[in-house]
Amino acid sequence: MKKALFFTPVLALTLASCNPPGKPTLADKWKSPADVSGFTNLYAQNCLGCHGDGKSIAGSITLKNPLYLSIVSEDKLRSITAGGVPGHNMPALAIENGGSLSNEQIETIVKGLIAWRDVSKLPTAPIPPYSAPLGDVAAGKAAFSQSCASCHGNDGSGGPKAGSVVDKNYLNLVSDQYLRTVTIAGRPELGCPDFANRDPATPMTPASVANITAWLSSHRLNEFNQAPTSSPANK
Ligand code: HEC
Ligand code: HEC
Repeated sequence: MKKALFFTPVLALTLASCNPPGKPTLADKWKSPADVSGFTNLYAQNCLGCHGDGKSIAGSITLKNPLYLSIVSEDKLRSITAGGVPGHNMPALAIENGGSLSNEQIETIVKGLIAWRDVSKLPTAPIPPYSAPLGDVAAGKAAFSQSCASCHGNDGSGGPKAGSVVDKNYLNLVSDQYLRTVTIAGRPELGCPDFANRDPATPMTPASVANITAWLSSHRLNEFNQAPTSSPANK
């Protein structure tokens, strides 16, 4: 008994000097958004939850996609990060647009994304440009059945390997540019191949990318279940 009493203060001192499990360290201290710096931290806190990084998968396209990063310009990355995609679920993140990121933090993120570019991982087929006008709806339907139907179904409403890409609620969530982006870069992290790998023997041409984007977009419906006047279905 005496022995135990003697040892207690020594034990208490030893414990106080080390970090018991669960005790937060300085690094765990809450940081205001303005204090977060470094690309890895900024990306984890502001983008990862929606975009993933290829390893973690999220609702929207991973930005660590070498093909995507090879077609999108640095200016575009900057303007979308700062200003979002109006009318869609990509929020404007710059302080001046109601977000929480300073221009310096946005610059760190853009430079970090550019550093993820990896030309060694690009397909050898000619890569369609990031943006282009919508193509021809009827030609898009034919191209879709050739390049996409094996997974998404002939009418796009879902097939054996993937869900619908013509559901009106889905189409309300995404812009035409996003449909084009995925048609080119795919979502390899989910099993949607890129333009060059859907049928490696015949990579998709820029024209078929533009036509498929038009066909997908032609399925948009307004609140009255009609194609909006701007729809390529009305052209
Ligand atoms: C090998 C199968 C396969 C092929 C071929 C394929 N996809 Fe996909 N696609 C998928 C899978 C898997 C997903 C993930 C979602 C799901 O399971 O429905 C997906 C998702 C998508 C999405 C939603 C992405 C998002 O982030 O909202 C779009 C749009 C899409 N595909 C378009 C296409 C188009 C256009 C083609 C043809 C040019 C195509 N896909 C060909 C498997 C495929
Ligand atoms: C709340 C979810 C959310 C967060 C957070 C978010 N994004 Fe997005 N982002 C989206 C969605 C959804 C889209 C697709 C928008 C559309 O339909 O065009 C998108 C689109 C984009 C695009 C354009 C893709 C294209 O088609 O070219 C870029 C670039 C982008 N986000 C960058 C970022 C960066 C960088 C961050 C972090 C600093 C970020 N996003 C944070 C949801 C998010």
